[in-house]
Amino acid sequence: MIAIGCDHGGYELKIAVTEHLRNKKIEFVDLGCSGERCDYPDIAEKVCEKVTGGECEYGLLFCGTGIGMSMAANKIKGIRAAVCSDWFSAKYTRLHNDANVLCLGGRVVGAGLGIELVDVFLETEFEGGRHVERIKKMMKLEEK
Ligand code: RB5
Repeated sequence: MIAIGCDHGGYELKIAVTEHLRNKKIEFVDLGCSGERCDYPDIAEKVCEKVTGGECEYGLLFCGTGIGMSMAANKIKGIRAAVCSDWFSAKYTRLHNDANVLCLGGRVVGAGLGIELVDVFLETEFEGGRHVERIKKMMKLEEK
């Protein structure tokens, strides 16, 4: 199960991505918004709670740039959110950072690229190995 949310800046991209997920029969829960003006931290919180609570494996967040969503998401314990606008980063943030939330900018990437980024993110497994200790160290920084 994937948790999904957007603000008004990411709404159109979210619609394109959710249509794609539906076609692929990938289950998701859409936590808003419906296109109305709203504050991205509120949506980031709802989506990330589904991930940290274990109900959802991954979160997808969409705003204008993807940046506000990623900043807000990364304030939440247990979240490793990455804002990506290229395929390599979307792949390697799973392989090396074990990212559990992908943030995309609806004013940065189009639907075609956005869908590719979501696909590679969801399909790539964490590599483990030497990255495990690095992630442990990174997550310890939450205590600072
Ligand atoms: C909303 O206008 C915009 O600021 C928001 O979508 C996002 O880009 C923030 O990072």
